[in-house]
Amino acid sequence: MDTIIGKEECLDMAVKLIKEGEVVAFPTETVYGLGGDAFNESSIDRIYIAKGRPRDNPLIVHVSCVEEIEKVAYLNEQAKILFEKFSPGPITIVLPKKAEIPECVTAGLQTVGVRIPKSKLARDFISKSGTAIAAPSANKTKRISPTSAEAVYEDMKGRISLILDGGECEVGIESTVITLAGEIPTILRPGAITKEMLVEYLPKVKNFTGEILIAEAPGMKYKHYAPLVDCFMYKDIESAIKNYSDKTVILCKEEFCERLKGYNFVNLGKSGEEIAHNIFRVMRECEKCFDCILLPQLSEEGIEGSIMNRISKSCEYRMVE
Ligand code: TXA
Ligand code: MG
Repeated sequence: MDTIIGKEECLDMAVKLIKEGEVVAFPTETVYGLGGDAFNESSIDRIYIAKGRPRDNPLIVHVSCVEEIEKVAYLNEQAKILFEKFSPGPITIVLPKKAEIPECVTAGLQTVGVRIPKSKLARDFISKSGTAIAAPSANKTKRISPTSAEAVYEDMKGRISLILDGGECEVGIESTVITLAGEIPTILRPGAITKEMLVEYLPKVKNFTGEILIAEAPGMKYKHYAPLVDCFMYKDIESAIKNYSDKTVILCKEEFCERLKGYNFVNLGKSGEEIAHNIFRVMRECEKCFDCILLPQLSEEGIEGSIMNRISKSCEYRMVE
C-alpha cells in the first residue's frame, strides 16, 4: 500500500476513506492520531492492526464539539464543567459509554475516553466525516508518539493510505486522561492540563497510583515511548557530562547550553511548554544519530511532571550517577 502525505486539500479524501471504513492519520494539537469510524468495528480492527496494539488497551473517541458527546457517552455535571473550561483542548475525559460504541473501541470496558481536539483541521475532519473518530496516537505500539506527519510516516509507511499533514503539533505530548467514572476524579495520564489546573474546578482530584494491572488504567501496563537506543536520566548537568561519550547526546534545558559547548547536545527549550513541544521530535531525531540519549530529570510539578512521566518511561526509570 502506498502512503500519501497531504495537507488540507486532502481533507475530502480523508473523509471519504473514513466513510469507507479505512484508517487515516490526522493532526491534533497534542500528537498525531490514527483515526477510524468509532461506530464501525472493522475500522477499529484496522487501527489495532496498523498500530500493532494489544486489544485490551482502549481507544480515545474524538468528537468535534460538546453537542456530539452525547452520541458516545453519558455526561455528568463535572464533565460538563471540564469540557467547558478545557475543550477544545488537550484533555480526555473517561465517562460511562453509550451502548452504540462497540466494545472493541473500549477494550470491553463500560467507559469511554472522550476528547475534543483543538486543531481546526482535526475538528473539520471529524465533523465532515459525520461520525466520532476513534484514535490512538499514530505511532507503532511502544514507540514515541509522532508530532509531525513525517514522524507518522516513519511508523505507518505502507500500513495506511493517507496522512493528513497539519504541521508540527503545538503541545507535543498526549492529552491528560482523567476518569470521572469512579468515585473520585482520577488522572490516569498527566498532560498539559495539569492537576493544578483541574483542582480549580473539581473538589478532589487524585493521581492514579494503583496496581497497574487493574482495568481502570489499561494503558499504564504497557511499555511506552521506547527510543531505538539507550536512554538514561541525569539529575544534574555534571553527572551527564561524567557519563558522556562521542556517541552520546545530552538533551538539556536552555540554561545549560553554555556549559555543554563542545559536547553533543540539544536544547529542549526554556519553559515546560517548550520542552513538551520539542521532546518527542528531538528523541526521534537523536535516536537516528547517537547510541545513547541522556535526558534531564525535571520537576514533578505541573507540565514538567507530565513530561517526566514520558521521560522516565523512555528511560525505563534508569538514571546515571
Ligand atoms: O492526545 C491524545 O490523547 C492522543 C491524540 C491522538 O488524541 N491520543 C492518544 O491515544 O494518546 P492513545 O491510545 O495513544 O492513549 C490513550 C490512553 C491509553 O493509555 C488508554 O489506555 C487510555 O488512554 N484510555 C482510553 N480509554 C480509556 C478508558 N475507557 N478507561 C481508561 N483509560 C482509557
Ligand atoms: Mg499512545
